[in-house]
Amino acid sequence: MCRAVFVLALTVLVCPAAEALDNGLALKPTMGWLHWERFMCNTDCYKDPNNCISERLYMQMADVMVKEGWKEAGYEYVCIDDCWPSHQRDAKGRLQADPKRFPGGIKKLADYVHSKGLKLGIYADVGKNTCAGYPGSLGYYETDAQTFADWDVDLLKFDGCYMDWKLLGEGYMNMSRALNKTGRSILYSCEWPLYEWPHKQPDYKAIREMCNHWRNFDDVYDSWSSIKSILDWTASHQDIIAPSAGPGGWNDPDMLVIGNFGLSHDQQESQMALWAIMAAPLLVSNDLRDICPRSKKLLQNTDIIAISQDPLGKQGQCTIKVDSFEVWERPLSKKRLAIAVLNTQEIGGPRGFFIRAAPGWKICDPQCNVTQILPQYKELGVQTPHTKLVVSVNPSGTTLLTVTPTSDYAGLIL
Ligand code: GLA
Repeated sequence: MCRAVFVLALTVLVCPAAEALDNGLALKPTMGWLHWERFMCNTDCYKDPNNCISERLYMQMADVMVKEGWKEAGYEYVCIDDCWPSHQRDAKGRLQADPKRFPGGIKKLADYVHSKGLKLGIYADVGKNTCAGYPGSLGYYETDAQTFADWDVDLLKFDGCYMDWKLLGEGYMNMSRALNKTGRSILYSCEWPLYEWPHKQPDYKAIREMCNHWRNFDDVYDSWSSIKSILDWTASHQDIIAPSAGPGGWNDPDMLVIGNFGLSHDQQESQMALWAIMAAPLLVSNDLRDICPRSKKLLQNTDIIAISQDPLGKQGQCTIKVDSFEVWERPLSKKRLAIAVLNTQEIGGPRGFFIRAAPGWKICDPQCNVTQILPQYKELGVQTPHTKLVVSVNPSGTTLLTVTPTSDYAGLIL
């Protein structure tokens, strides 16, 4: 009896969460650039040579990533989305890049991206066709996995269009196994739960065992209503999805749209702060060649990136909604905590939030040190459980703090 209890206790201690896909990748949320939200399925290189889906686009992004500090900030993957292939497979049944838009082919593009010290991502679909109507991988999982490995690709985004939903799980698992069989380390980004949700609650244990990150909800658009809908969905499903996140596997709320057209600067700060709190992949979809300095500075903010990439690898959650504020909190390594306060009231001016109302504030007993990271970096000094500190939050903006307990006692009660 005692032994059984001991064994059980040990099991609980050793296995806190489900096993992650064991390919050694995505130990921290993936960082990079992904073409979809900004460039979509623009294949007209005659009319729009600068912005069409072509090898030139990815080469230029790779160049900028190195020259403009993106690589140094941690952005590593240059990712192709839909609309890259030819409409026909080759004589051996392999996918091939559109020859006009990718005259060098994907292998050459991968070599170029690797020569810059970056990695290349590609896109395919578990079903008969991709969402934009290009050839899907159904019936070709092993062939396509081997083709991507032969091309030295480093990441696969695997979409779920044109697939019988009852076969989704099997398809995603088979591609995971096929990738593994190639022997090349290929990060596997899935959309499996997104396509399953309308029919049943996805099995996150199985998903975590097979994928390095997974989309749960609708595509992000360049608008505040889209960001809000993603946050609302995440908050209302966090009990189901947050426990499955951790080193090796992450919930993916979709791309960062910072640096585009639809978000005010405060809203851009909210997306950056909340994506860091959610331990989300930071895949930017914008035009890195032409981005305003303020958005660039935000995306390269090392304090926010440090929260995103925190080694504890725990996804944060919405802990309270009160008076049109949302508080989101993420436990960090060294018993620290990140707190994001979002002001969801889209009328009026900045409003004050009494910070000790944040549920996580209990780690300030008896004392803590507080740093404000957004909207401006500011040391807020030593605080206590009874502090009168009020933080100011702009409409649809977020004030982001890190809190460090300053005594062992506080550490013990965590
Ligand atoms: C789906 C995905 C998007 C994008 C498009 C491409 O909508 O969710 O992220 O890949 O397909 O067609």
